[in-house]
Order: sequence, then structure tokens, then C-alpha cells
Amino acid sequence: MRILRRRGWEIPEREATPEQAYLNRRTLIGAGAGAMLLPAAAAEAQWLFGRREPAADPWTRNPADIPDLPPAMRNTRYQPGRDLTGEREPVTFNNFYEFGSNKDIWPSALKMPTRPWTVKVDGMVEEPGEFDVDDLIRRIGLEERVYRLRCVEAWAMTVPWTGFQLSKLLEIVKPLGSAKYVRFETAQVQPHMIGLRQSWYPWPHIEGCTIEEAGNELTFMPVGLYGKPLPAQNGGPFRVLFPWKYGFKSGKSLARITLTDERPKSFWETLQGSEYGFWANVNPEVPHPRWSQATERLIGSNERVPTRLFNGYGEFVADLYTNLQNERLWA
Ligand code: MTE
Repeated sequence: MRILRRRGWEIPEREATPEQAYLNRRTLIGAGAGAMLLPAAAAEAQWLFGRREPAADPWTRNPADIPDLPPAMRNTRYQPGRDLTGEREPVTFNNFYEFGSNKDIWPSALKMPTRPWTVKVDGMVEEPGEFDVDDLIRRIGLEERVYRLRCVEAWAMTVPWTGFQLSKLLEIVKPLGSAKYVRFETAQVQPHMIGLRQSWYPWPHIEGCTIEEAGNELTFMPVGLYGKPLPAQNGGPFRVLFPWKYGFKSGKSLARITLTDERPKSFWETLQGSEYGFWANVNPEVPHPRWSQATERLIGSNERVPTRLFNGYGEFVADLYTNLQNERLWA
């Protein structure tokens, strides 16, 4: 059956609520709803209607004791060829459905504690384990990479991520020869992730890639952005990033990474596989069924620029797909 429910990321950007209007709306709804509610329902209503004042600073840390990241050298092998996006846009314009289907989820995301945080790595590995994210940072070390990120909605940004290559984590757990895919599962943090109450979505949020894609040098595990700990709205404390694929493949706030011999069925593939497939490599010549992918809007400047095959990372990844011409590589 065809799903007609429109995803929030498909709203025309002109419909995205400007921040000030959003804040005013919250005050109004909060005041009206509060007057009608019994005291027992008030705490619940705070989450539903967001009556608490949002944090003024989208970089606010919660809890306040998130450690500073150790110094990380920028890896100049990955040249973005574009100006960096300003620091505010990437942390105030987000897709993170666990917190809601709007772009302005950052005030509620920032209330989610991101320390302590562990990630389980299991499945077809010699040495499975549950790793504290700060232990991983100390053990593997960090570097900074400036990557372009291209959302399937045709907006893009260029930002410095701090983190480590996924292959370094895989070296620790030692994949078995039988492992063919890697499955990424986002945490379900109650009561903070109010989007989880939208029960028609197939929670938890799952993403996946092949073992070859996971081992590619570009596949990165950010724990920081602009030199600061990764804010929850961008997937803090720990996410995955595939810069040559549409952004929806880059799962946020990971709780579990599983090596498997079964191709994982991702969140969006489960909802609408005809539009959001397993591979989702960026290609300007293959339109989304409902819009062109030929150009993209740079958030911040609003400049429109041509989209590039593999988001411009073909020299690093095109070889991964030479024997896969029968697959739907671009959706
Ligand atoms: N991961 C989870 N768990 N939930 C989401 O809703 N949205 C995806 C991806 N990862 C999403 C997610 C989409 S559609 C995009 S474009 C990127 O995150 C956006 O990342 P950003 O907010 O850091 O720009």
C-alpha cells in the first residue's frame, strides 16, 4: 500500500517556521493549553507543548559536564572546495525525527543527556563489546575533517566534523569473514525523544551499509562539530557519516552497531522503499520521484549550486559500485 503520509523533510522549505514565529507559537500554545489542563497532566504537557523556555544558545551542553574534546588536527586530504557554512545554521536546522518532524527540534534535543553514553558493537565480530564513547575517543584518537553533507531534500552544508574513521572501530572488534553488512541503530531516549510517540514510524531508527562501505576511508564517526562536542540535534554524542550518500543514511545518536550477513532494512526504506533505498548515493541526474536533484541550496547563504555525482567524492568511492550496476544505486 502506498504511504501518503507526508514526511516533514518533504515540506517546501518556505513552510519551515522561522525561529521567532516558532518561539511565539510555543508561548501562545503553552499559555492556552496550560490554562485548561489539570495539574496532574502539566508535566506531560510540558513535553507535548514545549512550555519550557528553549535554550538560547544552540551549542549549550546538557549535562554541563560534557568534557571538551581532545585536540584534533585537520586532515587536509579532504578538501571541501566550498566555504564553511556558518556555525549557527547546522545546529538549528536539523532532521531528527526522534525529536519531531520539524527542522527546529534543537531546543528539545539539547535537553537530552549525552554523557555517560555507551555504544554496543555486536553481531559477526570476534570481540563484541559495549564501549563508553569517551573511552573510544581516548583509545582511537580524533581528527577533523571538513565534509560536504547533501540532504535528499536538496539542501547542503559544509562543516568541520571531529571524529574517527569507522574502520578504526572495526579493527577493535574484528569483523568475521561472514559479516557482509553493518547496521546502525539510534538510541531511544525517553522522555526526551518525543517523536518516538508517533507510533506509525518504524522505531528504532535503523540505517545500514555494506562492509566495504563501512571500511571505506570516508566513513566517519563524528563526536564533534566545529571543534566542540557534537550537539544532540546533530546526533551527539556519536553518529555515522557517509558524505557521498544522501544525508538520511547518516544515522544519529547511535546506541548499537551490528555486523551481520543480512542487508539491514532502514527506517526510510521501511516507510517508502520506492523513494528511499538502501544505497542512496548522490546523483544529480537521477531525480527524486517528486523533485529534481540537479542543484542544491547551501544553508546559510541560500546560494544554489550544481549537485555533484557521489557528492563530489567519486575518487574515493566509485570503485565500491563497479560490480553493482543492477542495484538501485541512486535512490
Ligand atoms: N538519524 C536519525 N536517528 N533520525 C533522523 O531523523 N535524519 C537524517 C540523518 N540522520 C535522521 C538521522 C537526515 S534526513 C539528515 S539530512 C541528516 O541526519 C541531517 O543531519 P544534520 O541535522 O546533522 O544536518
